[in-house]
Order: sequence, then structure tokens, then C-alpha cells
Amino acid sequence: MAKDGKGDDLPAGGISRRDFLRGGAAVGALGSAGLLAGEMAEGAKAKPAPRMEAGVEVFGPGPVPVRLRINGKSHDLNLEPRTTLLDALRDHLELTGAKKVCDRGTCGACTVLLDGAPVYACSLLAIDVQRQPIATLEGLGRPEKLHPLQAAFVDNDAQQCGFCTPGFIMAAKALLDHNPTPSLGDVHHGLSGNFCRCGTYAGMRQAVLAAAPLMAGGFEEEPEEPEEGSGAEVIDDGDAVDAPKPASRNKKKKKRRGRG
Ligand code: FES
Ligand code: FES
Repeated sequence: MAKDGKGDDLPAGGISRRDFLRGGAAVGALGSAGLLAGEMAEGAKAKPAPRMEAGVEVFGPGPVPVRLRINGKSHDLNLEPRTTLLDALRDHLELTGAKKVCDRGTCGACTVLLDGAPVYACSLLAIDVQRQPIATLEGLGRPEKLHPLQAAFVDNDAQQCGFCTPGFIMAAKALLDHNPTPSLGDVHHGLSGNFCRCGTYAGMRQAVLAAAPLMAGGFEEEPEEPEEGSGAEVIDDGDAVDAPKPASRNKKKKKRRGRG
């Protein structure tokens, strides 16, 4: 402070009222240049450089780019690293076939195929399954063009509330893709990771056995798009029931995995 409370004499390191006003005028004169610098700083904040900790690139906690390969098409999303595959499908891509029931890897309602193997989508992080082929119920068929398994579930009265049904159908598809002629015991085992609270197990097992010869009869799967594609796309028809082509079943061998 000035000795008399009004003058410019200040203790060392202080700033006088006159200096303050001079500085303010200078900032005003800089005007838009100062603003531009501020915007540039904001821009730098919006696109942070990759964060490294102990030599490892750290993602998040904010949204980061994630590319998912679903039903033969690529989808580019911005997701928080904590986002599960199930939430990415349901909340970001409107693919609601996989159901959220327990959300803790015990019921199978969220079953999708990851590289041909059944997994619980609620128990995987989307960021961890980038570029691996993911198949969901939406890729199998449509109401007017059902997949053999979907048609067999209807014909065998294999659902009541239907909440568990998409997960069972995906688990059954994984089973039949790996074992085209399963025994009843094989079907029991193949569906053992899924619960049906309505108790329609008998109908579902019959449906899987009924669909097996239809799927083994052969049909061409839709060719996948190049991975460069992105954004929300129309869902593939997949291997739909009304287009069987004898002896041309996709014989791709896929490595079976345990549930995620
Ligand atoms: S919602 Fe139950 S296992 Fe994923
Ligand atoms: S049909 Fe209702 S839970 Fe399976």
C-alpha cells in the first residue's frame, strides 16, 4: 500500500494503481490477439496429447475414439474407456437385441459373439474388443427374413417373455457354427451359460436341434465390408432363413472361447 493510502509508492513487489491501469490499457490494445491466444489454449485442451504414465499410454477418463466391428460393419464412436460393450451396443448404436439383465456376467441375456465365440457383452469393455468381429442378434435376420434359429424358436414355442431369447439364440448359433450336428447333451452344454426365468429350456433345445439341419444345409453369409467404413449403418441380412443354398455352408473354423 502507498504510505498515504493514495499514492504510487508501494512495498517492493507490489503494483500501483497507475501501473495496473496501464497494464489494462495494454491488454485492451492487444484485443483480439489476446482472445485468439485464449482460443488456441482451449483448442489445445480439447485435443490433449496421449497421456503416458510409466511408459504406458493412458486413456480417459473422458471419451476416446473407439472403432467396433459389428455384424460386418465398422462403427466409429467416442466412448469413455469404462463403457462396456453392452452399453456401447444399446446406448450408442441402438442395437438393443442384447439385453441388460444382471449386468454382472451371470445370466447370459447379453450374449453376443466375439470372433465366433459367445461372450457376455456386459462384462467386456468396448475399448478392449476393437477390430474383433462382433456378431449380434440384429445381424442374423429380420421379421420378414428370419434366420433358421429364429424361425425354429418361433416354431417350437421356445420363449415366453422373450427377454432371454436373443442371448440363447446367439449361444445356439455359436454352438451350431462349431458343431453342426449336436446331440441333445451338446445342446444342454452349449446353452448352459444362459438362464431362462420363464423355464422354456425344453422348447429351446428342440429349436436348436430343429435348426441344425437347416443351418447345415448351407447358406452364404453376407460378405463383410472393408474395415475403413464407419458411422451408423444399415444392419446386414446375415444368413437369413429364406435363402438356403445347398452345400455352401460357411465352413470357416472358429476358435472357441470361454465366456468373457
Ligand atoms: S446382462 Fe446378465 S450376463 Fe450380461
Ligand atoms: S422367455 Fe422369459 S426369461 Fe426366458
